[in-house]
Amino acid sequence: MYLELNHLSKRYDNVVAIDDVSLSIAQGEFVTFLGPSGSGKSTILRMIAGFTRSDSGYIKLNGELIQEKPPYKRNLGIVFQDYSLFPHMTVQQNVAFGLRMRKVSKEEQARRVADALETVRLSGYEKRLPNQLSGGQRQRVALARAIVIEPLVLLLDEPLGALDRKLREEMQIELRRIHEALGVTTIFVTHDQEEALTMSDRVAILSGGQLHQMGTPYGVYERPATDFVADFLGRANLLQLAVVACEDSLIKAKLPGGSLISVPAIGEVATQDDIQVLVRPEHISFYPPAGDTPCNTVECAVERISYHGSGAYAILNGPGDVQLIAYISARELAEHGEAHQGQRITVYWPISASTILSRRA
Ligand SMILES: Nc1ncnc2c1ncn2[C@@H]1O[C@H](COP(=O)(O)OP(=O)(O)OP(=O)(O)O)[C@@H](O)[C@H]1O
Ligand SMILES: [Mg+2]
Repeated sequence: MYLELNHLSKRYDNVVAIDDVSLSIAQGEFVTFLGPSGSGKSTILRMIAGFTRSDSGYIKLNGELIQEKPPYKRNLGIVFQDYSLFPHMTVQQNVAFGLRMRKVSKEEQARRVADALETVRLSGYEKRLPNQLSGGQRQRVALARAIVIEPLVLLLDEPLGALDRKLREEMQIELRRIHEALGVTTIFVTHDQEEALTMSDRVAILSGGQLHQMGTPYGVYERPATDFVADFLGRANLLQLAVVACEDSLIKAKLPGGSLISVPAIGEVATQDDIQVLVRPEHISFYPPAGDTPCNTVECAVERISYHGSGAYAILNGPGDVQLIAYISARELAEHGEAHQGQRITVYWPISASTILSRRA
């Protein structure tokens, strides 16, 4: 693999900032580190950049151990949340800075700065100072400054954090476009779940310094490895079930109220085990799935419906104090007639849409 992190750990006094993290990134990949505040995202980025030393483990980039290299010799492009542009330098000088440090000739500096500014769509802004630019434009200058050195890896630590929602969405598209144009291996840090899922080839989910899972957006959303990942990546029904029978590919288990549920078997599960199962709200429906898709059913009473334009969340009470949340599309609502409080209803979800979760300390 192009970039390998192997068993990295880091403590600050009694705080474990990074707890035995290993992961690999392929050349050209766009990977996002996602996790709540304090989960260790910036610390890992700083280790790759060379600003923080790990207590143990090692980092390999392009086949080379880089632990002993100072930051400026690692040839990485870095953008931090606060952009840290030099306020007294023009856009041109800001972007040229890394090239000047590397003693690149004046002519080549001019050519590469022009290319970088064109990539971030800021040609014509060369003579401006940072305080004469909008937030989004400053962000692009920071990006141009990072890519102009043709880095081995681009490290972006919450680069869109200071932007308003609309600008943020524009910059997300812009970042992906730049990534596609340059093909540069990119690590992007965010604590915004939606941003991580829409932008990335793969997402690494961190909590308390541990890597919980790394996978494609679809994979981590639909097949989360732990209850933390399931809960952190959107609305989730986390069902506590008692296993009644284990067949080859199917587990039969009971909800607290006695409803029998089938779940695709994974890992080692035995009769009488307690398991935790994820079902996303959008898989639960007021209608049976089309065709002969095998499904689970639960009889519920509607507690509340909250509308969201394109659909509605239905809070449902099942037998034995089991609460379910279902996302019902606007179309389904229209066909079904408006559901009302107290209404009895049967809900359905495909057996294949249930995932057994493991727990982490
Ligand atoms: N220099 C330091 N001294 C002491 N503790 C630190 C230091 N740097 C980080 N930490 C601690 O390490 C943990 C991980 O911090 P880190 O900055 O990596 O989190 P993060 O995931 O980037 O969070 P955020 O989303 O808030 O930026 C936190 O508990 C933090 O308080
Ligand atoms: Mg951080």
